[in-house]
Amino acid sequence: MENFDQVISRIGTNSIKWDEIKTMYHEEDLLPLWIADMDFKAPTDVLQAFENLVQQGILGYSGPSSTLFQAIIDWQAVHHEWQIEQEDILFFTGVLAGMTTALQALSEPGDSILIFDPVYPPFASIVENNQRRLIRSSLIENETFSFDFTDLEHKIKTENVKILLLCNPHNPGGRVWSKQELHQLGKLCQKYQVIVFSDEIHQDLVFAPHQLTTFANAGDNFADFSLTFTSMTKTFNLAGIKNSFLVIKNPELRQKVATKQQKNFQQEINVFGYTGMEAAYRFGESWRKELLTYLQQNIQLAIDFFHAELPKITIMSPEGTYLLWLDFSAYDLTDEQLEQKMIHEAKVVLNSGLSYGPSGSQHMRLNVACPKATLLTGLKRIKKVFAN
Ligand SMILES: Cc1ncc(COP(=O)(O)O)c(C=O)c1O
Repeated sequence: MENFDQVISRIGTNSIKWDEIKTMYHEEDLLPLWIADMDFKAPTDVLQAFENLVQQGILGYSGPSSTLFQAIIDWQAVHHEWQIEQEDILFFTGVLAGMTTALQALSEPGDSILIFDPVYPPFASIVENNQRRLIRSSLIENETFSFDFTDLEHKIKTENVKILLLCNPHNPGGRVWSKQELHQLGKLCQKYQVIVFSDEIHQDLVFAPHQLTTFANAGDNFADFSLTFTSMTKTFNLAGIKNSFLVIKNPELRQKVATKQQKNFQQEINVFGYTGMEAAYRFGESWRKELLTYLQQNIQLAIDFFHAELPKITIMSPEGTYLLWLDFSAYDLTDEQLEQKMIHEAKVVLNSGLSYGPSGSQHMRLNVACPKATLLTGLKRIKKVFAN
């Protein structure tokens, strides 16, 4: 049995979550429940694989082994009923690095790129930093998120959208898009010849009975016009090894992206990335199952706490991920007031909702991937300030 209750100090490790916040906010004693990594030790088998590498002692240039390719292919087949081939796979030093390169390869400055609102903030930055036109389609927010297909079609048509960035499971809020929704989305994209970039980095953090459908699998020929970005770094808490892979079935699109990748000299990956990825996929499944159980308990704990103690805060129950979406609009605070109150009075760091797009105003994102004791401390601090 894994001990996810163990509190391990990350202070002084240069972690962005625990160390960088102090300089960001000039506050001591902040409890960070923000950026998406977990306060849990990675699976022992993965740590052992790193140790074996270090013991051997030579960390020269390395490439992906045939056994790594097989581990990826097997994992996707078993967990996502998705058949991929070795030649479909490109490695990158992270999903965002891969997305940026693919965006540069498959669009031109000035092209319209559509993202949903709210969504993981770097989606907007990637588009704007590369001088593409950012088009947002707001998600409908009720108890959970859903696509606004009328708005979506209108924007795709009138703005001449070239690429759509999809996040599945969705960050924030943890919506796992159903096969029907993805099918409808894909049909629209097919009709207007929009390429879909599907970020599925949270693909293995999904709670039963929900099931992830890979976008490329959601309809006939969807693989022809889509790219799938994923990694095991979120699932196994290895974000710092910066490693991901991109699956492109369409040879023409793949060639364009691979050429751009080589032009940018991005084709070589950290040896710890390859090693960690293979060990995680080969040996990590029992750890992952225990993790999902623990995360579900933490999610329930947070939901129950907010219902009982802070009913003015509405919480979206996630179908996947450990990233809860909280609605503070009943407090009638500006986004700045909300953030100030959370940081300087409650001394808890959550992600500001506004950074996810205009629809994120008066919301915050809470990361529950930490020992229960840590989570409870955070919730109690929030209660002290927001209960009145
Ligand atoms: C949806 C999503 N995509 C991408 C990333 C970042 O991935 P990487 O570190 O591989 O670039 C994150 C990290 O939080 C994420 O939530």
